[in-house]
Amino acid sequence: MTTAAVAIRAWLVGPRHSDNFPYAVVTDELHRVGKHFLDGELVAALQQTRTELGSVPGSYASSQLLRAWLDVMLDKPDGRYCYHTYLALPLLPQPGQSDNGLTPDTAAALRCRDRLVAALIADTVRFASTGGEATTATLTGKRIRLGTRVLTPVLRRLGLTDDLGHDVDPHEVWQRVQSALDADERQAVALSMLPVSTVHDEHLFIRVLQAWECTFALVAVNLSAVVNELSQQAVAAAARGLDAATAVLRESAPLFSLLATMRPESFAEFRVYTDGASAIQSDSYKLVESLCRRPELARLHSIAFAAVPGVLQRVEQGQPTVQSQLASLPPTGGVDAQLTPAMEAFAEAIRAWRRTHYSLAVRMLGDQPGTGSTPGTPYLQQVRDIPVFTGGGRAA
Ligand code: HEM
Repeated sequence: MTTAAVAIRAWLVGPRHSDNFPYAVVTDELHRVGKHFLDGELVAALQQTRTELGSVPGSYASSQLLRAWLDVMLDKPDGRYCYHTYLALPLLPQPGQSDNGLTPDTAAALRCRDRLVAALIADTVRFASTGGEATTATLTGKRIRLGTRVLTPVLRRLGLTDDLGHDVDPHEVWQRVQSALDADERQAVALSMLPVSTVHDEHLFIRVLQAWECTFALVAVNLSAVVNELSQQAVAAAARGLDAATAVLRESAPLFSLLATMRPESFAEFRVYTDGASAIQSDSYKLVESLCRRPELARLHSIAFAAVPGVLQRVEQGQPTVQSQLASLPPTGGVDAQLTPAMEAFAEAIRAWRRTHYSLAVRMLGDQPGTGSTPGTPYLQQVRDIPVFTGGGRAA
């Protein structure tokens, strides 16, 4: 029996409490073999923990964490493996999560995203510096430089540094970020790295996807605020909100350059175990898309929205969009002068994201199908050209 299975069995029969579950020993074991290769006895011990969870004492927060963590750990044995569990998204605090349908708090969402991106990318850079198979000093240096480009504006806004300088020490940056996190955030970052394999580059892949996820979640909060502002005819505020969303998308672009340092051979090695987990299931991305304007029926009734039932439901219930609010504004009110350029800049940032994503997919995937039941890059080529806004308002 593995040390991890023994530790869980001991916890199950000891004075068990959700605060003292042996997470570290289990994640160490997962990192040693990969989530796809967890030993049967360890899986059985995790399943038993889940079965007995109702009788385990502990604080509400620690019980919820253990439940969510078991849910992502047991996705493969349960046959529920997907994008959300692969990236352990339920464990990561997402921007907008606490808005509860009230007025979107964009400042809180930006802070939440920044704290998470700081942690995820500082961890990426730290891990990149530990080498891995076929990693050269040049490649590691490039990863540190690109990670630093993502981190610099984030750490500046968080008041953690003005300038990281040229000679960045990844461990020092990691320490600095870690010391600014609270205990829950530190634990979320540690528990959310659940690679399916032991391929070194999978760490980079997971962290970059997680960083984009919370960036899209922030952009969705920004767009919800823009929709509200337009409903109150606050055109200047709406334009500022769109500009903020554009800025964060542009600023995050080096995340793609960072991921482009992954070797296609490394990607090929671990993607055989990620079938069924695809970013086509990303709620945040589709929320962003559908808050700009209501997608065409053909798109709504395609695999793209079948993969995100919660977002599809919002659209079908008539979710207001930037485009629909714009159409109901009175003919005057600074729309052409203020909002049109902001919408165009935002649309271009989304188009740039799609172009870069497409190029990256071509490079990493070639003509292989996607993990989300699409033909792969032909699907991406098609969706790349979907208009972000259309002529229903005054900006295209
Ligand atoms: C190795 C890098 C990547 C490859 C090869 C890749 C490949 C693909 C493929 C083939 C699809 C089509 C759906 C499927 O069958 O899976 C897709 C969709 C998508 N990917 Fe990626 N991707 C990569 C990186 C990323 C990253 C870093 C993100 C950031 C979150 C991302 C976000 C998305 C989104 C949001 C979709 C859905 C697009 C839509 O339905 O319109 N991808 N990707």
